[in-house]
This record gives sequence, C-alpha cells and structure tokens, in this order.
Amino acid sequence: MKIPKRLQPLVDDGMVDEVLYQLMSGKEAQVFVVRCGDSVRCAKVYKEAKKRSFKQAVQYQEGRKVRNSRRARAMSKKTRYGQREQEDAWLNAEVDALYRLAQAGVRVPEPFGFVDGVLLMEMIADEDGKAAPRLDNVVLTPEQAKVYHSQVISDVVRMLCAGLIHGDLSEFNVLVDPEGPVIIDLPQAVNASGNNNAERMLERDIDNMRRYFGRFAPELLNTDYGKEIWALYEAGDLHPHTELTGCFEHNTQAADVNELIEIIESAKEEERDRQERLQAAEAGTD
Ligand SMILES: Nc1ncnc2c1ncn2[C@@H]1O[C@H](COP(=O)(O)OP(=O)(O)OP(=O)(O)O)[C@@H](O)[C@H]1O
Ligand SMILES: [Mg+2]
Repeated sequence: MKIPKRLQPLVDDGMVDEVLYQLMSGKEAQVFVVRCGDSVRCAKVYKEAKKRSFKQAVQYQEGRKVRNSRRARAMSKKTRYGQREQEDAWLNAEVDALYRLAQAGVRVPEPFGFVDGVLLMEMIADEDGKAAPRLDNVVLTPEQAKVYHSQVISDVVRMLCAGLIHGDLSEFNVLVDPEGPVIIDLPQAVNASGNNNAERMLERDIDNMRRYFGRFAPELLNTDYGKEIWALYEAGDLHPHTELTGCFEHNTQAADVNELIEIIESAKEEERDRQERLQAAEAGTD
C-alpha cells in the first residue's frame, strides 16, 4: 500500500521495508502491518493528543516518574514546551512498559523501538500468520476459559511484581494466539507504588477478566483474586510464583467490644502517667 505519512520516517531510516496493510483504527491509534526484512511486524501510530480520550486522565499519570526535574516543572505548566513534554512522556509510557514487561516474562508483543511517535512491535499472529483475534472475538470452552483466565492472572501478578498495573485490561486489549492470551495496549499503565488509585484499578482489571471468562466458565464468577493479590502485594509477599487461592477472607468478625474498651482505658492511663511525669519534671527544673 502507499506509505502513510507518519510511517515515512521509519521507511527512510530503514526500520520498515514495506507497509502491507492497515489493521485497525482504534480510539487512540492506527495499527499497520509492516514488513521489516523477513519479519512481519505491527506499527502503532498514535493519534494526536487532542484526538485521544480518557486514558490521559490524571488518575493514570499519578506516580509516574519524570527523570528530569526541568521537564517535570515544564509538564506542570500549560506552556507549549510543557505540553510537548507531557505528550512525549505519554507516548514513551507504552514503550517503557513493553520493555519492562517483556523483561519480566509477561506475554506482551516484543517491542522493536519507538520512532517519531510510532511504536514498532512484534505482530501477534494466529496459525495462518494473520493478526490474532482479540478475546472479544473468540468463543471458548469452559476448560479453555479457565486455563486462559489463570494465564492472565499470572501475567497480572508478574506485571505487579514489575511495578505496573495495566489500568485498561478487558477483552478488547487481550489477543489470543496459539499459545494463549497476550496483553496489549499499555500507554495508560499505572505505577503500582506511587498511585492512590492503584488498588482500585487492579481490582477493576481483574474484575473485567473474571466477568469475561466467567461467561464461559461460570465458576470463575465466585473468585476474588483482586483483593488477594493486592493484600499480598502490600504485605511485600507477592512473587511471580506465589500460589493464589482465588479466595479472600473479608474480615467480618464483630469487634470485641470489651477488648476495645480495655485498650482505650490503658491508652488513657499511659497518657495520665506521661502528664504526671511531665509535671514532675517541670517542678524539678523550677
Ligand atoms: N502487536 C499486535 N499484534 C497484532 N494485532 C495488534 C497488535 N497491536 C494491536 N493490534 C490490533 O490493533 C488494535 C488496536 O490496538 P491497541 O488496542 O493497542 O490500540 P488503541 O487505539 O489504543 O485501541 P483502543 O481502541 O483500545 O483505544 C487491537 O485491538 C488489535 O486488534
Ligand atoms: Mg485497545
């Protein structure tokens, strides 16, 4: 096909030899299938900031580290420079996440670089070499659904161990190839430790997966991996191979009122002691 303008720099640089066809035009980006030497890859061309939607919301940005403080200051202002820096940081987030996650053993498309707002990555393909379908386009047996669900949960755990939460995980952002599910679309990935919305987003991601796979294997609807995973993460006990139960003990025991009164009384007593000691010390210095 004719080379789209945004892909021309990659062709000029020799990173892309041929543009084969356009795969999709999503809300945030256009995805093209390209040939690079003997490999077929995907090129994701991001739309301009103005045309993009919710994913830029501040809730996703919180806790993102900006390495350069001059840049951080600029980004907080509404200057043209500040906006450009913010845009670059946003675009880089998906590439950074892909490199980090591939390294951590999460099944994501392998990244091959980022040039002029275009991400070059492995094409996830089906048995015939065509672009793999998304979860929302497949029908699963209950067994398949359970296996895929557990593979996705393992990837979510690996991701969290690498410090990230997807933040927009759903059947529309998971592809299925002959090996199983592959997570895609990560520009909004959330920093797990520096973001106050992290727990909520993790639970939402996991809930979306439970609801989707639960359509094929209803017993999955009774699982509660989100709370379990977050509790382990917060306690510093989450590792890629942590055995999960899918259950979470909600603490519903009524508080022991007598014990509570005792604790309050002893705290009051301690405070009285402290005041007395303070008064005695003051009297001593007079
Ligand atoms: N590496 C890949 N291999 C195969 N297909 C891909 C790949 N990356 C993206 N796609 C296809 O392109 C579509 C759009 O990609 P992606 O979800 O990353 O972009 P988006 O514009 O952010 O999407 P959204 O519509 O969710 O906002 C995907 O749904 C998928 O069908
Ligand atoms: Mg998408």
